[in-house]
Amino acid sequence: MANITKIVTDPLDGLPVMEVGRWVTEEKHRVIERYIDASWGARQGFTGQRSYIDLFAGTGRVKIKHTSIFADGGPLAAWNMARQRRGTFSDFFVADADATYLGACDTRLRKLGVPVSSKVGRADQTVDWVLPQLDARNGFHLALLDPFNAGHLHFSIIKKLSIMRRIDIVVHLSTGDIQRNIASGLRSDSSPLDAFAPGWRQAVQKQSSKHEMRHAFIDHWKQLVRNTGLRVCDTMYPVKNSKDSTMYWLCLLTRHDLAEKLWREACNIRNKTLF
Ligand SMILES: C[S@@+](CC[C@H](N)C(=O)[O-])C[C@H]1O[C@@H](n2cnc3c(N)ncnc32)[C@H](O)[C@@H]1O
Repeated sequence: MANITKIVTDPLDGLPVMEVGRWVTEEKHRVIERYIDASWGARQGFTGQRSYIDLFAGTGRVKIKHTSIFADGGPLAAWNMARQRRGTFSDFFVADADATYLGACDTRLRKLGVPVSSKVGRADQTVDWVLPQLDARNGFHLALLDPFNAGHLHFSIIKKLSIMRRIDIVVHLSTGDIQRNIASGLRSDSSPLDAFAPGWRQAVQKQSSKHEMRHAFIDHWKQLVRNTGLRVCDTMYPVKNSKDSTMYWLCLLTRHDLAEKLWREACNIRNKTLF
């Protein structure tokens, strides 16, 4: 599905911001902030590289649709939460396919004194820019993979990041997009889902109902994640709009039990099913 994002100017700094639904700040950014807050104790005591990586970074600030409210976008929210906990990320990597968005994000982070490095490009390419800058053995990394749709989240990105010994990856899982693409993908030779979950057709074709196909698809993606040594935590947070419809899910990929426990608390568990 094409994403049409309205861009307006933030009167505070004269830079562009993306217009977003209320759920982005009230739900998505809140869960990410809560997770940073909860996990900061572990990060704080850590003397090696503590990096934040956002390969779909956006403009850094957002405007809430149908209001005059401006707020921090993902990267600024993450940095400001760490500051509130009297801590900092030692390295902050942001990238985005859109040069204007990334320029605004980079400028805003620099004004706050963030040790930021930024790169314009598609996430499946910028991951190769960030990897050599990460301490795979002794670093403690937090990545946010927050694309508009599943097709932009190539599995190769997760696979490459998974070589880090200590990394937590928060993933925006576009379940609506996945649902729409399963049926059309089975009818054609190529699909945006091919990059998101390589080999998905074999897993899904054996199923008889749409419901079973969707579950087989997600199970297949979870298995791909397990093959990297990470796992998808059981708790997934359904990000909902004001009409209580689920827009997408947030999930955490980790290899640590403590991270899973803290994520569960950050999500304040709601017992909902994935589709
Ligand atoms: C949902 S927005 C990110 C919002 C941001 N993470 C936040 O929380 O404020 C998705 C971003 O991905 C960018 N984008 C789209 N396709 C991309 C790709 N293939 N690689 C990297 N960025 C992409 C868009 O320009 C947009 O800024």
